[in-house]
Amino acid sequence: MKKIAVLTSGGDAPGMNAAIRAVVRSGISKGWDVVGVKNGYYGLLTENFVQLGPRDVGGIMQRGGTMLGSARCNDFKHETGQKKAIRNLNSIGVEGLIVIGGNGTQTGAFKLSQIGFPVVGVASTIDNDLYGSDITIGVDTALNIALEAVDRLKITASSHQRAFLLEVMGRDCGYLALMTALSGGAEAVIIPEVPTRPEDIARQIGEAYEKGKAHAIVIVAEGAEYNAEKLSNYFKKHHETLGFDLRVAILGHIQRGGTPSAYDRILASRLGAGAVEAMANGQFGVLTGWINSAVTYTPLSEVVANKKTLDPSIIALADLLD
Ligand code: ADP
Ligand code: F6P
Repeated sequence: MKKIAVLTSGGDAPGMNAAIRAVVRSGISKGWDVVGVKNGYYGLLTENFVQLGPRDVGGIMQRGGTMLGSARCNDFKHETGQKKAIRNLNSIGVEGLIVIGGNGTQTGAFKLSQIGFPVVGVASTIDNDLYGSDITIGVDTALNIALEAVDRLKITASSHQRAFLLEVMGRDCGYLALMTALSGGAEAVIIPEVPTRPEDIARQIGEAYEKGKAHAIVIVAEGAEYNAEKLSNYFKKHHETLGFDLRVAILGHIQRGGTPSAYDRILASRLGAGAVEAMANGQFGVLTGWINSAVTYTPLSEVVANKKTLDPSIIALADLLD
């Protein structure tokens, strides 16, 4: 191995920069050239490559987002796109590719490895919905941003005796919503994994009112059947059941743009360096993740074939403590 490339793809996540830095510096320490690919798989198709030295990745660790840029690229989903990507990598002598991203990104990485190109993935998405890693790069920072939002909402909600719906990100997975609810002491949580009727939420808000609470906070995962918009439309017609006046806040991308936490920087540094180690050992077609407090390598075939599930005991705990 003489030359490797690294890219970030899909939704950006705080900590991606620390992962890039770790890949570049560990790769160079092995005597390799490291090439950065701009804008994810789109950059592979458009040959948007940049040589990266140790100083090019200085001062990036404390910045959210990704210095390489990211993209969602439909052309790469087709085999013709994947083959073109490999041709472009071969044309500049790249012998291995490190891919930092979430579910879709690692599916793309698996396709490249099936065609025969040496690929190693790094688990990174704020959604924490990737099989093969207990926690992914970006989750801790996003969770802390959501938690700060809850703490702030509680202050104003209590002043006005209001209920709030706070919608947090999570395309198909309720992890962020559930952990925000648990750490923020929310009165209710709605996640895609647990079918919830608006009547159930109305009852929980009503109970908080009856208990004499000054507010009720409901955390809603954007991917839930009843997201904040649908629920608020429902409650416009049924507000008498709540006790409280209701307001809605949608956190959206604010959650993705934060300064990476220490946890995310450390996790990203270990996974980035771990991915380089896998390449050096000729261990390709794997996802570098974090399981039971250690760097692990899970075959991408397993990663794409499995869905990560939420721990039911956490769901029960959030319910018990509200
Ligand atoms: P994330 O990696 O954060 O889950 P996406 O699901 O948007 O984000 O995926 C990022 C990119 O990965 C897509 O834009 C596409 O280029 C690539 N990708 C996603 N799904 C596939 C697939 N089934 N086959 C090949 N590439 C894919
Ligand atoms: O996958 C990460 C994520 O932030 C999801 O939580 C969210 O549904 C999606 O990306 C938003 O995507 P975009 O940045 O393309 O709007």
